[in-house]
Amino acid sequence: MKRLGILISGRGSNFEAIADSIDAGRIPNAEIAVVISNRPEARGVETARRRGLNTVVIPSKGLDRETYDRMVVEELRKNQVDLVCLAGFMRLLSAWFVEQYPLKILNIHPSLLPSFPGLDAQHQALEHGVKVSGCTVHFVDACLDSGPIILQAAVPVLNDDTVETLSARILKEEHRIYTEAINIVLSGKFRIEGRRVILT
Ligand code: GRF
Repeated sequence: MKRLGILISGRGSNFEAIADSIDAGRIPNAEIAVVISNRPEARGVETARRRGLNTVVIPSKGLDRETYDRMVVEELRKNQVDLVCLAGFMRLLSAWFVEQYPLKILNIHPSLLPSFPGLDAQHQALEHGVKVSGCTVHFVDACLDSGPIILQAAVPVLNDDTVETLSARILKEEHRIYTEAINIVLSGKFRIEGRRVILT
């Protein structure tokens, strides 16, 4: 059984999609060992508790990155986590954190990286006027929304799109490809050449 640690900061819909996938047997041989939120008020915290999952709030407010990351890693270790999934976790991880879990930390981002990293990616895409956007699941390194890309999905940007309608179209794809990416990583059916994740 592979043990997932899920890190959230907010709504937690990607976390829920992963939990649903596990419950439905779409991610075989995996379980959620712990859900960690850096924000006590995150809606995902409530959802995680309601689902009966081991839910831990570690508030990040006022702590420096190093101190915070050590607390989180301690909790992940305590729960013997094999794979860390960032799911709307709004903090950059320190190089030290990333080194503790080489190729064992995933993130989802609502754009086709390397376009539009950082905050408000859907707004950035609309402002730029791209005709296609989407989402990316990638391995995490110590830089923002960087790291080798595992999967991407594209969606059209329509004439009458708002941030809300575009975000909803992208989110549907996020929920689908995060499960797929977790399966790829857990099954080890990939190799890495430079920045390229070659699915095998
Ligand atoms: C998603 O769009 C994700 O790609 C980004 O933050 C958002 C989190 O949404 N990193 P949720 O908390 O998973 O609903």
